[in-house]
Amino acid sequence: MSSVTDPAAAPGALATPDVAIEAIDLVKRFGDFTAVDGVSFTVPRGSVLGLLGPNGAGKTTTVRMMTTLSPPTSGTARIAGYDVLEQPGLVRQNMGLTGQAATVDEILTGRENLRMIGGLYGIGRKTLTRRSDELLEQFSLTEAGNKPVKSYSGGMRRRLDLAVSLLAAPPVLFLDEPTTGLDPRSRSELWDVLRDLVADGTTLLLTTQYLEEADQLADDIVVIDKGRIIAHGTPLQLKEQAGSASLVLTVSRGEDLPAAEALLRKNGAEVFVDVPARRLTTASGGLGDLPRVAAWFDESGIAVDDFGLARPSLDDVFLSLTGHRAEDTTNTTDEEIA
Ligand SMILES: Nc1ncnc2c1ncn2[C@@H]1O[C@H](COP(=O)(O)OP(=O)(O)O)[C@@H](O)[C@H]1O
Ligand SMILES: [Mg+2]
Repeated sequence: MSSVTDPAAAPGALATPDVAIEAIDLVKRFGDFTAVDGVSFTVPRGSVLGLLGPNGAGKTTTVRMMTTLSPPTSGTARIAGYDVLEQPGLVRQNMGLTGQAATVDEILTGRENLRMIGGLYGIGRKTLTRRSDELLEQFSLTEAGNKPVKSYSGGMRRRLDLAVSLLAAPPVLFLDEPTTGLDPRSRSELWDVLRDLVADGTTLLLTTQYLEEADQLADDIVVIDKGRIIAHGTPLQLKEQAGSASLVLTVSRGEDLPAAEALLRKNGAEVFVDVPARRLTTASGGLGDLPRVAAWFDESGIAVDDFGLARPSLDDVFLSLTGHRAEDTTNTTDEEIA
């Protein structure tokens, strides 16, 4: 960490904070109900934290406290080195937020929305025009930018929402369930946009109910359930925590399944057989098993299509941590309000 103070930096902030986001024992009570119960984590500058949890886990409440929208019952947070309680104005200047509810105006065009919000930020007219053009281009909305938002698809709206929150080029960006309700293609397009942002140095905190999304985007994952952190680690660490690797093998001909199963069992393995998929799964000690098992199959003459080690999925992780599956919310619509 630098000990040289940047004269342009406001008092209290680090000149070059290595930690972009810091949650310090955040608690939020609504009456006698505790929605967030002692949440602490740090997000290094330029990285992505996935706050993963089912509906009602406390994700939005945590984000609202970290973005100055809701005062914590106790605890605090620091964004880009600024304290949300002591320096809320500086926090807001250094962050962008895209919430679960769309913030754009339906009747205006995409470009007009950018102009309106940019005006509120006090961005000069020339800069605003250039910045709007850049953002529309970056989010593949150059043509759509001249059409009213009410004609946009769900994916286009989300991209415009994101463009709006990036107008002021904030170093820290909070996204609350950015892809909930999007179809798989719009979702993976948005993931690409987010990867580009992070490559350009933005620090990202995103909440999600989608295990795959956290796996795809996050450097670190904090799993919360009922307001408490139940796990914290890299996607790989969480998967390792859920159990050892499996050896997965797909035979070429269905009629070889019994022989393949017998071959594995003879060598002392528990085997799970998925008949329609022609697939056998067995617990594995790791990479060292591969050449041994390959040799058995080679000798036996059983043809194999596919063969390798598989990690448990994040879905398995969630199940092993909470005792329940993450909720399937694929039917949630764009209209859902936080
Ligand atoms: N303003 C509020 N008043 C009372 N309860 C609330 C309020 N906001 C959220 N909650 C409750 O707090 C819990 C966490 O909500 P939320 O943070 O929105 O979860 P998530 O975003 O993970 O789905 C839920 O049980 C929710 O009903
Ligand atoms: Mg929420």
